[in-house]
Amino acid sequence: MSPSGNEQSSLSREQAAALLAFYLEAGVSDALGDEPVNRYALADAAPVAAAPRETARPETQRGARPDPRGEAAPAPAPAPRAAAPSSIPLEDAQAAESAREIAARCKTLDELKQALGAFEGCPLRYTAKNLVFADGNPQARIMLIGEAPGRDEDLQGLPFVGRAGQLLDRMLAAIGLDRTGVYIVNTLPWRPPGNRTPTPAEHAVCMPFVERHVELVNPDFLVLLGGVSAKQMLRTDTGIMRLRGKWASVEVNGRAVPALPTLHPAYLLRQPAQKQLAWRDLLSLKARLNG
Ligand code: URA
Repeated sequence: MSPSGNEQSSLSREQAAALLAFYLEAGVSDALGDEPVNRYALADAAPVAAAPRETARPETQRGARPDPRGEAAPAPAPAPRAAAPSSIPLEDAQAAESAREIAARCKTLDELKQALGAFEGCPLRYTAKNLVFADGNPQARIMLIGEAPGRDEDLQGLPFVGRAGQLLDRMLAAIGLDRTGVYIVNTLPWRPPGNRTPTPAEHAVCMPFVERHVELVNPDFLVLLGGVSAKQMLRTDTGIMRLRGKWASVEVNGRAVPALPTLHPAYLLRQPAQKQLAWRDLLSLKARLNG
């Protein structure tokens, strides 16, 4: 998609501007290199984990990955929050540790937002346009956790405002809720470029903020939207098709918060026949809420 070095040098300023305008019109929203860059190789630190391939996904594909490991055991009991996995590069492990210390010092959501805004340990902040902190009502009994912002969310600085978000709003409305009755965050507060899959290192660095976010909001119920959110929050490799609809729990400040994994609205946009499963999950949530 990007011009080669030769083409670049032969383009006049006007031609380059016209080419960019053409790309924009054709729907290109991110500039990705043709060749992957192993940024870990640039760091001195060892051990070095293999960086996942950067694969662009449209916004509506968030949460849409089928999980090949869907046959594993059901959701585990709440796992105590742990240090970053040892498989990530040392500098990311250090950033995760620093994130944990910074997040722990935040006593309010405003402080947490400020701290995230100033946090430089996650490179996603440099490719994203905006921090996507949260939306909805922090006093609500339900906290929804999605995967990561897409293009629309990045532009507006709010979670779930694109097509998937519109479907989420309709799903909530079906059980009598709207954004005044829920609080919404993502496992990552910055958009991965081109909506590529978040890396383990990005999650390790950002999860302390998500966990502190849950502690500060202290909801009655968590709803984990999609496989990425469910895996991160429940610390499991089990696939979303096995997890969905089964209440699990996430330990927060020594308290086990009931957590319901369900299908991601972006997945439902691509697989509308699965809405019947999401509907069952919504009814289960409503029953818990009213019970
Ligand atoms: N998908 C997500 O997981 N989060 C958003 O905010 C938008 C789409």
